[in-house]
Amino acid sequence: MELMDVIKRRRSIRNYDPGNIPKEKLDRVLMAGLLSPSGRNIKPWEFIVVEDRSALANLAEARTGNADMLKQASCAIVVVGNQELTDTWVEDCSLAMLNMHMMADYLGLGSCWIQCRMRYAKDGRTSEEYIREMLKIPENYRLEAILSLGLISSHPRPHTEAHARVDKIHRETF
Ligand SMILES: Cc1cc2nc3c(=O)[nH]c(=O)nc-3n(C[C@H](O)[C@H](O)[C@H](O)COP(=O)(O)O)c2cc1C
Repeated sequence: MELMDVIKRRRSIRNYDPGNIPKEKLDRVLMAGLLSPSGRNIKPWEFIVVEDRSALANLAEARTGNADMLKQASCAIVVVGNQELTDTWVEDCSLAMLNMHMMADYLGLGSCWIQCRMRYAKDGRTSEEYIREMLKIPENYRLEAILSLGLISSHPRPHTEAHARVDKIHRETF
């Protein structure tokens, strides 16, 4: 598939079929994250792979709003960044999230970005406090986001260029 086709095809998918993600596919998703660009090539990210069903249900409690897809997901990749290494940890971890999200779609898996930075858990703590305790994350690591991952029986329609907001492009000045 051409890169533009991969970009158009990528969608957020929140409904999953039961079953495990084949190990080789999960490894490729994680590799896509590890090969992401980062400021000064510091790669401040760490990825915590969660596949235990009760842990996934507990992770769904880490966010008010739209995180219930974690209860159906086969796997979650929790992305944290070391804020002591670099002031671009948010950007770096975002790029790793996008690379993994794109690779998942390319491999026919469903995935969705679950925002966790500056968000709250259902128990009133921040999502970061909740997940830090649950997953034993050291203090110098900050929580970026969770990528939910699962098997899908059907893929939503790809994006088309007809829906692209070309008026967002400015030339020479705003
Ligand atoms: C930074 C960011 C945060 C997001 N947070 C959530 C979220 O917390 N829950 C969710 O269901 N989707 C989340 N999404 C997915 C967006 O809702 C989705 O990308 C958008 O609606 C466009 O749909 P598409 O991904 O299918 O093109 C997030 C996406 C991004 C890039």
